[in-house]
Amino acid sequence: LVVQVNKPVAAVQPTMWGIFFEDINFGADGGLYAELVKNRSFEFLKPMLGWKELRQTGKGKTLIINQGNEKPQNPRFARITVDSGSYGLSNEGFRGMGIQKGKQYNFSVWAKSGEGNLIMKVELVNTAGKKIGEASLTSFSNDWKKYTVSFITTDTASKGLLNVFFEGKGMIDVDMISLFPQDTWKNRPNGLRADLVQMLADLKPGFIRFPGGCIVEGQELETRYQWKKTVGLPEDRQLSINRWNTEFPRRSTPDYFQSFGLGFYEYFQLSEDIGAEPLPILNCGMACQYNTGEVAPMDQLDPYIQDALDLIEFANGDTSTKWGKLRADMGHPATFNLKYLGIGNEQWDEQYVERYRAFEKVLQQKHPGIVLVGSAGPAPNGPRFDYAWKEFKQSKAGLVDEHYYQSPEWFFKNATRYDNYDRKGPKVFAGEYAAHSKDDKDAESKNTWISALAEAAFMTGLERNADIVQMASYAPLFAHVEAWQWRPDLIWFDNLRSVGTPNYYVQKLFANNKGTLAVPILQYGHVLTGKDSIYASATIDQNKKILQLKIVNASSAAKGFMITIEGASVFRGGVWQVLSATDPLAYNTLDKPSYVVPISTPVKASGSRLKVLLQPSSFNVLSLPF
Ligand code: AHR
Repeated sequence: LVVQVNKPVAAVQPTMWGIFFEDINFGADGGLYAELVKNRSFEFLKPMLGWKELRQTGKGKTLIINQGNEKPQNPRFARITVDSGSYGLSNEGFRGMGIQKGKQYNFSVWAKSGEGNLIMKVELVNTAGKKIGEASLTSFSNDWKKYTVSFITTDTASKGLLNVFFEGKGMIDVDMISLFPQDTWKNRPNGLRADLVQMLADLKPGFIRFPGGCIVEGQELETRYQWKKTVGLPEDRQLSINRWNTEFPRRSTPDYFQSFGLGFYEYFQLSEDIGAEPLPILNCGMACQYNTGEVAPMDQLDPYIQDALDLIEFANGDTSTKWGKLRADMGHPATFNLKYLGIGNEQWDEQYVERYRAFEKVLQQKHPGIVLVGSAGPAPNGPRFDYAWKEFKQSKAGLVDEHYYQSPEWFFKNATRYDNYDRKGPKVFAGEYAAHSKDDKDAESKNTWISALAEAAFMTGLERNADIVQMASYAPLFAHVEAWQWRPDLIWFDNLRSVGTPNYYVQKLFANNKGTLAVPILQYGHVLTGKDSIYASATIDQNKKILQLKIVNASSAAKGFMITIEGASVFRGGVWQVLSATDPLAYNTLDKPSYVVPISTPVKASGSRLKVLLQPSSFNVLSLPF
């Protein structure tokens, strides 16, 4: 093999390898968002979903009051009346609550006292009913106020429950009953699960596409994602049904709603924290085309376009503007430096292009610096997909978002997909992709080694064509092992643990060894893309002076190569990371997280030639300083 370090073929964009976050599979509520109380504000369709009355030692009742028009963003609260003894409510959390021993937990509640002087006793219990943390609150005012109390836990529980007892005789109104660990990501109140954010940070993503996916579209326009309802005080963010609540009845999650505690401000902050460009996607005036296909008429598109303009102001406007001020009030006076904006999720057809153009006309005029991302729908190519592409070629869309959920075979074959793409059209954003294996055992079992290997082969093709492909992200990102709607997924978790799939390590290896320029890696003058089951790409990092080779050996035999480097001085050692498994159906689980993980060995190389023996069924990343 010959690597031509002195003949770069394309610049690799800093955004090349990113992540796509959607609140699917309990990705946000019950996942990344660290709130432990489910239905904290009694706003689920069934107001007591997730709650149970506790009346072992007392007499009392709960009435759900709906103040409707008075407070449309948070209409309901619970009125608790206690006649005697101790009466309470128990919250089951999101498939239980993950509680760590010896850690601080912060309880809060909005309350307004009616009659009497009730004492509120808060306790965390494990599944055996053992108390593992407690605190109490007293002296409630007759006006709505927020009360907080913290406590340290005495034990770990993967399925803890929160009991809130009211003792004495009297009446009290309660709302927004909340429990967070102190140890959120960066210890932020209303924060994110630190272990899950760390998994994202470790990927070193170039961008975050959020908040979806289909949830941007909604089953119908009424339930589309509306970013303005996700900013401001958490108690004023209007809950919505999650689009994944009713899909796939066989695996239905009737308790799946969006509290928007993780909203657009938090998405921007997360992007900033982990050094990723924010890439918000907005509804284009169309609900999910796979579902109702409901559209806003063209003459009623203005509010949708205004949402886009206001979002740019929220992210980039100075603090004298309405939305820039809100950002500052929320704690971020500096701008978020938004550069990309997606219009529509997975859409196509005339109805889509027409709406896209209406956005484009206004946005290009008012914000020519913002790169617009259009959608071509799901690949492989079909008439609808081709239609959107044809249209985009004529316009100035910065990037076109293509999605592919296909078999591992398709991914291997499509490592050449972009080799002959039209170089004159818009750039490609591979916004959602995952190789789908047929295997079906545990929750995590669709994330097979063969799917990861096929994605690695495909990604060598993306990297070789970095002049045209400028962003790529696997999908979906997260899944709770007990509450998923879609598989495979990049990261699995339960209430306390998380595991990277083989696919996660493929993403990590590419993103952590990205480079700044793609350079040729050739065999007898030809790119390696499937011949003898070898797929390869190469980049150099001009700043660090490192050559990064990615080579997939998809065959069941070991393969030996002599690699010659042209155009740079000499190899001086380096690191060889190998991801491999003998069983194509191997996968990682929460109990066995390290079954398929990269193994690093030092490279003992000097001079301009290096001999390698690639293990059967392996993905190899060689980082070679020169
Ligand atoms: O990633 C899961 C779903 O796949 C996304 O919500 C949607 O865009 C696609 O159909």
